[in-house]
Amino acid sequence: MAILVTGGAGYIGSHTCVELLNAGYKVIVVDNLSNSCETSLARVQEITGKELEFFKVDLLDKEALNFVFGKYDIEAVIHFAGLKAVGESCEIPLKYYQNNITGTLNLCEIMKKHEVKNLVFSSSATVYGEPKSVPVYEDFPLSATNPYGRSKLFIEEILQDLYKSDSSWNIALLRYFNPIGSHESGKIGEDPNGIPNNLLPFVAQVAVGKRAELSVFGDDYNTKDGTGIRDYIHVVDLSIGHLKAIKKLNSNPGIVAYNLGTGNGYSVFEIIEAYKKASQKEIPFKIIERRAGDIAISFANAEKAFNELDWKAERGIEEMCKDSWKWQSENPNGYDKS
Ligand code: NAD
Ligand code: UD1
Repeated sequence: MAILVTGGAGYIGSHTCVELLNAGYKVIVVDNLSNSCETSLARVQEITGKELEFFKVDLLDKEALNFVFGKYDIEAVIHFAGLKAVGESCEIPLKYYQNNITGTLNLCEIMKKHEVKNLVFSSSATVYGEPKSVPVYEDFPLSATNPYGRSKLFIEEILQDLYKSDSSWNIALLRYFNPIGSHESGKIGEDPNGIPNNLLPFVAQVAVGKRAELSVFGDDYNTKDGTGIRDYIHVVDLSIGHLKAIKKLNSNPGIVAYNLGTGNGYSVFEIIEAYKKASQKEIPFKIIERRAGDIAISFANAEKAFNELDWKAERGIEEMCKDSWKWQSENPNGYDKS
């Protein structure tokens, strides 16, 4: 039996492929390489010493997807494929809805046709909108403030409807907090196109000398030092959460949602300090105005994943920054897609 991974060449997908291969699964990746390249998969195979199958397939191409499902005996699907830049989603919302939602509809239709009904979906803490309090629990009200977040929320609702119509589906909605870090080998990592939107890749590029300084988006939040607080989680811990979710689906739980976070919040200033220590580099920064749509503070209550998946994040902030720095310093131009 095999696990089909959509978006497996991307940041979280490639790390999850490593964990799947190490655990002995057969892995089939479909990815259109719109935000990744095949080098990541070559590195996954180098790290594990095992092979995976790769198909350059767009989820919008149902026929190609159908071909892959016809070729293998697939046990479950882990669905990472999607566009994820919040700012861009406000500029080209139709593309985001088309790619993320239609892509997921196509995937579910083909899964159903082939009687594959175990699905792990990459959701996000963004579905909690501005949480009323922290830590954030899975039963908090859901909302969205931008097309990217809305695509995640809509997909969660679509999957709820799918389950209601046919209870033989088993679906895990994994709500990630802020994935950072890299595999300890330094061979795979986050490789954003252009100017990074997220804090960690930006800090990493400042540390390596690719960017002059970090802009800190506001120091007047009602937090311990005035900067935004988030729950950063090591991407390897996050990846392991997906293997636990697959195991859970085998017990026929129906549709279930889990927060994948550490339960700890770190401010932007704390991250700068931790990264300085890990890299032994200066991180020049300036304070600018708040970023539109940002919330002050978000961190998870991850007890449900601990109780029901037997999963918890093991890696602390030092390890996250150390591993991120190993990847960044050894691959200053990422996978060098040029
Ligand atoms: P990523 O961009 O590195 O990986 C996504 C992969 O999907 C890419 O390889 C891309 O080429 C592929 N893809 C996109 N559209 C496709 C399509 N139509 N058909 C086939 N392949 C397609 O992103 P990531 O950081 O690894 O995120 C993976 C998933 O997790 C995404 O769904 C993202 O929204 C979600 N998520 C990410 C974060 C984060 O901070 N990285 C946080 C919460 C949720
Ligand atoms: C962002 C997205 C969110 C997405 C998440 C993970 C927005 C508004 N939200 O959230 O939808 O789920 O990434 O992909 O884009 N910061 C700086 N300077 C920077 C970058 C970030 O000060 O150059 C600050 C932010 O204000 C925030 C913290 O760092 O306080 C983390 O930012 P980021 O990494 O972008 O994650 P989120 O804001 O949680």
